[in-house]
Amino acid sequence: MKKHITIIGATSAIATSVAKRYIQENPHHHLTLISRSLPKLETLKADLSIRGGLHIDIDTQLTPKEPIDVLLIATGTIDDQDVQDCIDVNFTHIAVQLQKLIPFFEKQQHGSIAVIGSVAGDRGRQSNYVYGSAKAGLERYLEGLRHHFAPHKVHVLCIKPGFVDTPMTASFKKGLLWATPDTIAKGILKAIQKKKSTVYLPGFWKGIMFIIKNIPEAIFHKTKL
Ligand SMILES: NC(=O)c1ccc[n+]([C@@H]2O[C@H](COP(=O)([O-])OP(=O)(O)OC[C@H]3O[C@@H](n4cnc5c(N)ncnc54)[C@H](OP(=O)(O)O)[C@@H]3O)[C@@H](O)[C@H]2O)c1
Repeated sequence: MKKHITIIGATSAIATSVAKRYIQENPHHHLTLISRSLPKLETLKADLSIRGGLHIDIDTQLTPKEPIDVLLIATGTIDDQDVQDCIDVNFTHIAVQLQKLIPFFEKQQHGSIAVIGSVAGDRGRQSNYVYGSAKAGLERYLEGLRHHFAPHKVHVLCIKPGFVDTPMTASFKKGLLWATPDTIAKGILKAIQKKKSTVYLPGFWKGIMFIIKNIPEAIFHKTKL
């Protein structure tokens, strides 16, 4: 079935992989790609067109004119030098955008809203608590939005990846726990299709975070996590 998929933060490595998978699934899907950078979007559109994508629109802001079957939001920054900016990009701007879209989704009475959070939101840690707290706030916001949309048949998904090899983590040392953007994209499509509320990607992060969340504080404070 032909779908209309809208992606905010479409230039993200994870979002790009999601777009490629949707084109692979059906070249007739309509993709609306939103990002702050038009030149990057033009390059992405050209790539997706070569891969067979037939209906790709690009824009710097979302003004929905037709029903949206899937809305993916992938914007994010791990850079917490500027605390305000980190919280704005990872939480405030997303919540503000989604609040504005509530009447649109209430009217259309269907669709999936999928937003990329992070395992970093599961527990405050010395290494990334500004980023982590924004992602935690985002998860609570999505939980409330899901409750709001329950009578409207609108699905809300919080995606919680672990370590993913993307430009955001280019300077990080990689190891066994790292996943590719395509592995995450595959999990995102599946979680949307199954209308999950929350998904850890890859799935083993659910177990890892269960342990991390349950380490007593006295022991946790002795770690360098
Ligand atoms: N990589 C990981 O290990 C990992 C783990 C857990 C969660 N995540 C989350 O996954 C999502 C996608 O990230 P990624 O790993 O695919 O990284 P990425 O390729 O660096 O993508 C980041 C995206 O956010 C946009 N962005 C960054 N700062 C922005 C700002 N100030 N205003 C507007 N847009 C901004 C970027 O736009 P430009 O292309 O214009 O810069 C890009 O589209 C993020 O929400 C991230 O927090 C990533």
